[in-house]
Amino acid sequence: MADPADVATGFRGAMRRLASGVAIIVGRGDGAPVGMAATSITSLTMDPPAVLVCVNQTAGLHACLSPGCPISVNLLSRHQRDVSAAFGGAVAREERFSVGQWTEDAQGLPMLEDAQANLACTIDSITPYGSHSIVVARVNAVRLSDAVEPLIYQDGAYL
Ligand SMILES: Cc1cc2nc3c(=O)[nH]c(=O)nc-3n(C[C@H](O)[C@H](O)[C@H](O)COP(=O)(O)O)c2cc1C
Repeated sequence: MADPADVATGFRGAMRRLASGVAIIVGRGDGAPVGMAATSITSLTMDPPAVLVCVNQTAGLHACLSPGCPISVNLLSRHQRDVSAAFGGAVAREERFSVGQWTEDAQGLPMLEDAQANLACTIDSITPYGSHSIVVARVNAVRLSDAVEPLIYQDGAYL
């Protein structure tokens, strides 16, 4: 059996070698929207159209998530590093929406302009696992950019 400390170090190194797109996940907060950067966004199924995202239970967004609640998933474009950094914690929660251009969708949730895609979703299930929760969300509506130019995160930096 490998030393757990070695596994942890190796696992961290392995994940730094995994290139991922970056999304901003937005939920309805208590009076104001709450958003967070996430690379754990994954296409789950086409039938029904659904995504999953893993959210740390300590994140501000986590308290806004429950089945039936709306979330918006905003896939970032290459020129939106500043938005990723802000929603990754560089900017205080209540000031994050001043970074990037945000408009409201039909559900009243902020949607990022010039993102690669905006997905309007409803949460179907939340499954706790370790420090995180696995959130499954049904996609109700999609808006796409013209060009395919996603922001990619790998080895602690943006490509
Ligand atoms: C590129 C990037 C990807 C991230 N991916 C995730 C993720 O998938 N899940 C997660 O819980 N936190 C992720 N984080 C960390 C959260 O965005 C960060 O901890 C954020 O500050 C949490 O929100 P809060 O400050 O409102 O609690 C990521 C951060 C960055 C910069």
